[in-house]
Amino acid sequence: MIKKLILLSVLGCMTQFSFAQKKTPVYLDDSKPVEQRIEDALSRMTLEEKINIIHAQSKFSSHGVPRLGIPELWTADGPHGVRSEVLWDEWDQAGWTNDSIIAYPALTALSATWNRNMSSIYGKSLGEEARYRGKDVILGPGVNIYRTPLNGRNFEYMGEDPFLTSQMVVPYIKGVQANGVATSVKHFALNNQETFRHSSNVILDDRALYEIYLPPFKAAVQEGDSWTIMGAYDLYKGQHASHNQYLLNDILKGEWGYKGVVVSDWGAVLDTDQAIHNGLDLEFGTWTNGLSKGTSNAYENYYLAKPYLDLIKSGKVGTKELDDKVRRVLGLAYKTSMNKNKPFGSIASEEHIAAAKQIASEGIVLLQNQKATLPINLSKTKKIAVIGENAIKMMTVGGGSSSLKVKYETLPLDGIKERFGKQTEVVYARGYVGDVGGDYNGVKSGQNLKETRSSAELIAEAVKLAKESDFVVFVGGLNKSDHQDAEGMDRESYGLPYDQDKLISELSKANKNLAVVLVSGNAVAMPWIKEVPSVLQSWYLGSESGHAIAAVLAGDANPSGKLPFSFPVKLEDNSAHALGEYPGNKAELAAGKGKDLKDPINITYNEGIFVGYRWHDTKNIKPLFSFGHGLSYTTFEYGKVKADKSELTANDKITFTVNVKNTGKMNGAEVVQLYISDLKSSLPRPLKELKGFDKVYLKAGESKDVSITIDKSALSFFDPAKHDWVAEPGDFEALIGSSSSDIRTKIKFTLK
Ligand code: BGC
Repeated sequence: MIKKLILLSVLGCMTQFSFAQKKTPVYLDDSKPVEQRIEDALSRMTLEEKINIIHAQSKFSSHGVPRLGIPELWTADGPHGVRSEVLWDEWDQAGWTNDSIIAYPALTALSATWNRNMSSIYGKSLGEEARYRGKDVILGPGVNIYRTPLNGRNFEYMGEDPFLTSQMVVPYIKGVQANGVATSVKHFALNNQETFRHSSNVILDDRALYEIYLPPFKAAVQEGDSWTIMGAYDLYKGQHASHNQYLLNDILKGEWGYKGVVVSDWGAVLDTDQAIHNGLDLEFGTWTNGLSKGTSNAYENYYLAKPYLDLIKSGKVGTKELDDKVRRVLGLAYKTSMNKNKPFGSIASEEHIAAAKQIASEGIVLLQNQKATLPINLSKTKKIAVIGENAIKMMTVGGGSSSLKVKYETLPLDGIKERFGKQTEVVYARGYVGDVGGDYNGVKSGQNLKETRSSAELIAEAVKLAKESDFVVFVGGLNKSDHQDAEGMDRESYGLPYDQDKLISELSKANKNLAVVLVSGNAVAMPWIKEVPSVLQSWYLGSESGHAIAAVLAGDANPSGKLPFSFPVKLEDNSAHALGEYPGNKAELAAGKGKDLKDPINITYNEGIFVGYRWHDTKNIKPLFSFGHGLSYTTFEYGKVKADKSELTANDKITFTVNVKNTGKMNGAEVVQLYISDLKSSLPRPLKELKGFDKVYLKAGESKDVSITIDKSALSFFDPAKHDWVAEPGDFEALIGSSSSDIRTKIKFTLK
């Protein structure tokens, strides 16, 4: 009897098992090709379920299909660390205690490393943290080109050069996505300023569009295979970028064959018909003003929610577009939320901390170093005066959507004390008061930066300390408050705020051993540059900020960062301000346009392709510091460049090789930069354009050959008449150097 029972229950289990086996639906079956799984899932979904998965259900998540076990998608900013948890339908904090993370250096700093490997470890580390936090999509990286130093969001981007940005963005994407977390490369496209970001229509010629502003996005989707891309707020050809026929359908999905998901920027969707037809797939953050602001059914009233459903039900639109969007969103789910092979992730691992520090120290740029003022010579230094608010101010809180809740942030003063404190006395004075805030959407820095003394008193104290000390480190620059480096509004002027210029001048008179450390994501005017021996450009460096700055000041890390954008002497030397329109057309500005979403202002990029060094070079306007500039504590000598051929045909490649020697006493790294100059062209071209680079590590006295290979794409320009890239036969020059204005060796070659 017992035997019989056992047998029966075993048989029962087996039938249940085989029953379950047989029933595994295709869409859940890992062994089936993903296209088949998508079609199967699609065929099981009701119209309402399809509509449901193409719009948000909360601030940062979108619906899944609960009935079918298809999970929700969870997104998070982006791009410098994983943003903390906010309430379901508010920007305020959800109050979790397990959502603090490592802040990685801002993307300007990453770009300044000119090191693809840094980008790769950045992506890997960030992706692991996103995984651990259960995120499916990271809202970044940002690759909008640096057009004007006033753009409040430049710190989130990678500079003025399309080639550098393209090269740096791809490894970041691959690093993140290896974790089963999608990137959302943003903001596509032409969101090059914050003022009027919702209500400006960008007008530019096709050459500027294709040669300057689009290449990083193209690289991100074609080479990086970014699974999502985020539309922008601004308008192009009169349509908002997040549902834009030209940008999304014609270029992204048409010319580039993009198969991933177009996500709207938060609140960038404004029209159901355009959202259906103009390339958008997934709607987020819509302001429901006029729809159902603040009510619980706000999400159902999104443009791609009930209004879309009603149109389909009434027969006014078909389901072709809907199915395409759903297929794309399901495809994303299979790579992320439904991906069973993704790693578990980790937060603040030793590797993450090491990565944050290495990227930060490699990104710092030594702009000037007269009389070898840096590194600080400890044998001659008994007392160091650290001056400036940015030495004690947390920078990870603020600036907009990239604001973070960090496990820790080492402040510059603490880093300096930790590194130098045992050997020397380190004293501090504030010097100026800038921003005493420290709260972003409820994430609090916990710092009390209130100060009641007058500016004169603060300066007097700083100057006194400077006089009494052997070395002065001034740490200033911008910060993440409104109208500095912050989202939503641009800077109001090019100069340093809070009267820092005056303070720096006073300090330079008080002590000749002075290092100015600028913490910013933008270029600033430096009227005191001749009075100050050494200047370091330190970006927003994240959790390891203080350690990285101290390591460079001490010479533990030899600076090897190079500027990812030009620093003009004055604002008018920048092409957008000299030639183009900013922040919009003057007459329209005067008429009050741009205040309303429905009344956008035009911004014409009259400067065309002449952005950044392309402008400085071609017009011979000397910048304060050039694109690609960055010094080292050692020196590098370049040999004569050789090419493996003197002529190439359209399908050929050509390799340039140069020997680089570390001729100083310290180990260091040099970024060897290759620029191409088209000696004769039917259309105007910049004097030269970056088309290759390599970072080479050299011990003191060591030398290495550096080779860079290019093909015809490096010689091409975009011909608007042909609507295609064209490489014209003729003579070119390969220029190799240490910055865009420090060319060390060159060679001619011919395209047959
Ligand atoms: C920003 C995006 C960000 C989103 C979500 C928007 O305002 O422009 O970059 O990812 O908010 O926070």
